[in-house]
Amino acid sequence: MYISPHANNYVQNAIMELKVFADYTSLSETIARDIISLVQQKPDAVLCLATGDTPKLTYSILTARAAKEKIDFSACKFIGLDEWMGIPSFLEGSCSQFLHQYIFKPLRISPAHIHLFNGLVTDAKQECEQMDAFINAGGGIDLMIAGVGINGHIGFNEPGVALDNYSHVIDLDASTIESGYTYFTQPVNLSQGITLGMQHVMASKSLIAMANGQKKSQIIKAAIEEEPGNHLPVTVLRSHPGCKMMVDAEAAALINKAGIS
Ligand code: F6R
Repeated sequence: MYISPHANNYVQNAIMELKVFADYTSLSETIARDIISLVQQKPDAVLCLATGDTPKLTYSILTARAAKEKIDFSACKFIGLDEWMGIPSFLEGSCSQFLHQYIFKPLRISPAHIHLFNGLVTDAKQECEQMDAFINAGGGIDLMIAGVGINGHIGFNEPGVALDNYSHVIDLDASTIESGYTYFTQPVNLSQGITLGMQHVMASKSLIAMANGQKKSQIIKAAIEEEPGNHLPVTVLRSHPGCKMMVDAEAAALINKAGIS
């Protein structure tokens, strides 16, 4: 068993690494440090960042450290992982607004270095093609930060998604819609998302899939122990050689640690 200096680490039937942290703060501090290390090694890195509750502390720590230590993100390119269809980018709760608030504004990222999905597009096919072309032109994604959805989704790749997809529009699961409503401060209608596909997820050169809290413990157990397949997209990450699943002790609580060697 590989013991990480920063965390308990269990590896089971996987190329992916699993790292378990004592709490949400140490989890978030380590991921912020990992992002900074990558940017120090590769100042023009292509970064794809999830939104949602899970990475909020990571992003706050990251931007505070970047300011204090004068870490230069100005050559990085930023890609949105997903967006709610029908939602304007400025609306609080949209993925775009989240990334501007937590990442782009504090790091003063030039708009020329940002490519996000527009949830209001009429030609979604073209929107997807443009995203795929932007990623290819940048030489692929160096680091993706993904939050693990309660239903096992990655981005908006919902259970049952085609694993050979690139960017696409997808009908959202009831559980995704339910948690989606909690991000918005005003009434919205959520039914579809636009997302990078599992091909992008699996082709990212490195990937951190993160989860915290007791409410993620069932899905993290399934992510590690269930037969991999598109019924739970998170399980597919186990065959990603550059993937680290990083979770706190509460999210890891139900993993069967017997038999892990
Ligand atoms: C959001 C995204 C989603 C979330 C996931 C977890 O950009 O891609 O897959 O990462 O639903 O959401 P939280 O972190 O709010 O539990």
